[in-house]
Amino acid sequence: MHVSGPLSSRWTAYLGLLSALSAAFAPAVAVKEHDFKKCHQSGFCSRNRAFADHALTSSAWQSPYGIAPESGSFKDGQYQAVILKTIGDSGETVRLPITVSFHESGTARVTVDEEKRQKGEIELRHDSKARKERYNEAEQWVIVGGTTLDKEAKVGFEDKTQLTVKYGPSSKFEAIIKFSPFSIDFKRDGSSQIKFNGQGLLNVEHWRPKIEKPEPEKTEGESTESTEENKVEETVEEPKGEDESTWWDENFGSNTDSKPRGPESVALDISFVGYDHVFGIPSHTGPLSLKQTRGGEGNYEEPYRLYNSDVFEYILDSPMTLYGVIPFMQAHRKDSSVGVFWLNAAETWVDITKNKDSKNPLSLGTKSKTSTHTHWISESGLLDVFVLLGPTPKDLTAKYGELTGTTAMPQEFSLGYHQCRWNYVSDDDVKDVDRKMDKFKMPYDVIWLDIEYTSEKKYFTWDKHTFADPIGMGKQLDRHGRKLVTIIDPHIKNVDNYPVVEELKSKELGVKNKEGSIFEGWCWPGSSHWVDAFSPAAREWWASLFKYDTFKGTMENTFVWNDMNEPSVFNGPETTMPKDNLHYGNWEHRDVHNLNGMTFQNATYHALTSRKAGELRRPFVLTRSFFAGSQRVGAMWTGDNQAAWDHLQESIPMVLSQGITGFPFSGADVGGFFGNPEKELLTRWYQAGAFYPFFRAHAHIDSRRREPYLIGEPYTNIIGAALRLRYSLLPSWYTAFRQAHLDGTPIIKPMFYTHPSEEAGFAIDDQFFVGSTGLLVKPVTAKDKESVDIWIPDAEVYYDYFSYDVIPTSKGKTVTLSAPLEKLPLLMRGGHVFARRDIPRRSSALMRWDDYTLVVAVARDGRLAEGDLYVDDGDSFDFERGQYIHRRFVFDGAAKSLASVDAEGRAPGDANEEEGAWMKKMRAVGVDRIVVVGAQAAWAGKKTVKVLSEGRTWEAKMEYTPAAQGRAAFAVVKKVGVRIGADWTVDFA
Ligand code: GLC
Repeated sequence: MHVSGPLSSRWTAYLGLLSALSAAFAPAVAVKEHDFKKCHQSGFCSRNRAFADHALTSSAWQSPYGIAPESGSFKDGQYQAVILKTIGDSGETVRLPITVSFHESGTARVTVDEEKRQKGEIELRHDSKARKERYNEAEQWVIVGGTTLDKEAKVGFEDKTQLTVKYGPSSKFEAIIKFSPFSIDFKRDGSSQIKFNGQGLLNVEHWRPKIEKPEPEKTEGESTESTEENKVEETVEEPKGEDESTWWDENFGSNTDSKPRGPESVALDISFVGYDHVFGIPSHTGPLSLKQTRGGEGNYEEPYRLYNSDVFEYILDSPMTLYGVIPFMQAHRKDSSVGVFWLNAAETWVDITKNKDSKNPLSLGTKSKTSTHTHWISESGLLDVFVLLGPTPKDLTAKYGELTGTTAMPQEFSLGYHQCRWNYVSDDDVKDVDRKMDKFKMPYDVIWLDIEYTSEKKYFTWDKHTFADPIGMGKQLDRHGRKLVTIIDPHIKNVDNYPVVEELKSKELGVKNKEGSIFEGWCWPGSSHWVDAFSPAAREWWASLFKYDTFKGTMENTFVWNDMNEPSVFNGPETTMPKDNLHYGNWEHRDVHNLNGMTFQNATYHALTSRKAGELRRPFVLTRSFFAGSQRVGAMWTGDNQAAWDHLQESIPMVLSQGITGFPFSGADVGGFFGNPEKELLTRWYQAGAFYPFFRAHAHIDSRRREPYLIGEPYTNIIGAALRLRYSLLPSWYTAFRQAHLDGTPIIKPMFYTHPSEEAGFAIDDQFFVGSTGLLVKPVTAKDKESVDIWIPDAEVYYDYFSYDVIPTSKGKTVTLSAPLEKLPLLMRGGHVFARRDIPRRSSALMRWDDYTLVVAVARDGRLAEGDLYVDDGDSFDFERGQYIHRRFVFDGAAKSLASVDAEGRAPGDANEEEGAWMKKMRAVGVDRIVVVGAQAAWAGKKTVKVLSEGRTWEAKMEYTPAAQGRAAFAVVKKVGVRIGADWTVDFA
């Protein structure tokens, strides 16, 4: 039983850290790479890499997988058949049922199972209680839509060797299923985009019994050691056959994985024909455009690993796994994007190689002739892959959003600034920070409590000495509309007189070990058990713990942080659970590992919706571990980074990667978790963090206090300005979240996403656009830097956000912007209108009824500029019943007017339901100012504009400032006097 083995060095390190609270902080060291597997230390990864090496180097290689043609049938958008896998020269075959589904949404799905396991006709070793099937429930956790079969999909051609199916919008897509060897070629408009098994690396390790071989007989006195002489002899005597050395029980460190089903990996090569960039599969450090992984200059030697892990002080520029996984990859070339979503929750590795395919006729018409080949390898489960044929990056995020769900509409406060550290030491400490933030005029919305608030790491309890009056604390925060987030982790302290653990045990709601009794391991509290959030009963019980009456000390403004949910088990293999642990339904942990974090966050999300009868508000739950689908239940952060410039830099591609893979509500610890940031770094980090979708400062328990008011001038002032900038732009952030919620659009967007035709921008991952505002940001991420080079993707005009200077540039040019410490490089792209709220306040809640400022950045041609604003009560689900305002603003330079119309074409009174209290109150909220940057010279001398709304006409004052020394002319209309929810026109003529 793997429960109480020797403490890992990591756990000892943690103990050391904890007992040395007052000790000076030692410089951070990098993660112990050897605590985590490399491909050669993972049996299934090394077997599949070896398989690939053999296949790719032997000219006679032919994939041993072929569809039995007579087994196939096509009906209602679905093709079903059996793939026969031929074993060696024996002629013996294994039956692998395959389903290819074509969906109305235009996606296709290929699922391969194993017949013997479907039927339960296998035997498990070690008397294992695990399930016999291949894990087939990932879709129940992940897929929420987009799988209605396309009844219009049609077989175009069929003979004994292949079948062609036309599908998708206007039958633009085509799948050519070749029978023997099996392969699928996905085409769009007649040209190949994605190929399955084109390289012949498909590998489904079928179940087989273990044949115990007799130990080789030894004559007495003979050495078993391998000497040079007996090695030769051994080789001669070795019976021919497959190398079984990694099939059965597998060791890593002090752990033995019992692998009751033996080898069972699934692997496939997926080629992106004519594509030279691939993005996605977070979370990793390194560039947004993924690197090759089979060695060579500038490439990685290791595949990208996807195995949720508590990596602790992770290293940069590495394919090593991190805390969360989204197995969604996009390939991009000029004017075309396609993608695959590999739905498998087991440990997975992905190799990437690129090569020039000069004679590939299929890439004709595209400049690049490079193709990207990927090799996906999962330890167990079904082979289950979705194919998305684009053609734009936006099509991919939309289709992926349809499949896995989109970002939940967040609590509005959660877009504000979050003040966290490990730990605020008492309720007085929290109240003091709260007062000081006010004193220094620093807006913030949330203060966080890390694990030390509990009584001896028992979640759902408070340390009575340090947090004697949590309600008093909560009430003080509430006075300015602020919230509290408390941490609740999945490990439950195994100790007497703790009702939570007693119930977990008596109700049998914990994860079990391979013997079927409750699993015990080590985490923050010492000996612990883990709640099994796969179990419906466990989730119901979990919800009961959060009721205000049960979790005393919490109130309406308390929300939750879920950490360590990979899960982190300090004395477990690779700091997580043994793979032969058992979850609800007797699925092995191996099968579900990457889903684990999401199921826990999901349980907490639902718990927060049922804290009090009759109260239904949007939850806020932050998670460290995640999977495809986690976006539906909260936010994520990138884990334990370091107070170092390169970590600040790396945070940008990491957050961008989250955005394009459907989980945009993300951010990194501002300031860096480990270590003490120098003042300049902390300041620059706040400037960058103000543009993370999730904006939270956090710090390790051993780091010095660094609340932004402590740092001293000029830094405090500069950080305050960054915070206020975030707050003034909150209406635009919220609007971007609405878009993400509707169709999966990222909140901050890389260049390839916004400008898919501009090849020079595809690899750029240190600048980004915010929502549809046209705001282009390039944070300063290096020490002593007083300027940045920013790449301009198009021929639009760009204005400096603060000075209205026109940036002298042209399409594709890189320009240098001055960026002294107090300045964040931020440009406004011409052609956009965006909303702000300009009165600085203490929290977002206090800004709710403030009037808006609209900023128009006039386009280069002086004509159309557009934008939108979405607003709802920021807290309830009433928006689902039409209780929201969504305006579209159109500035027309020719007509010299700015108009506001309902963005969804709803006429007044169209709302499905009567105006609720929030809508009524919004009647008093208006547009206070309109700023037109790039105003027409003809407006000089004009003192007023005409305003028309709700049957009335009036005049509002305008101040015009002519262009000067590189600065655009601008006009400010004051006291506009229109309601934000009404139709109106401002006439500048
Ligand atoms: C983990 C988290 C970190 C937290 C700490 C204590 O290291 O990543 O954010 O402060 O645990 O709970």
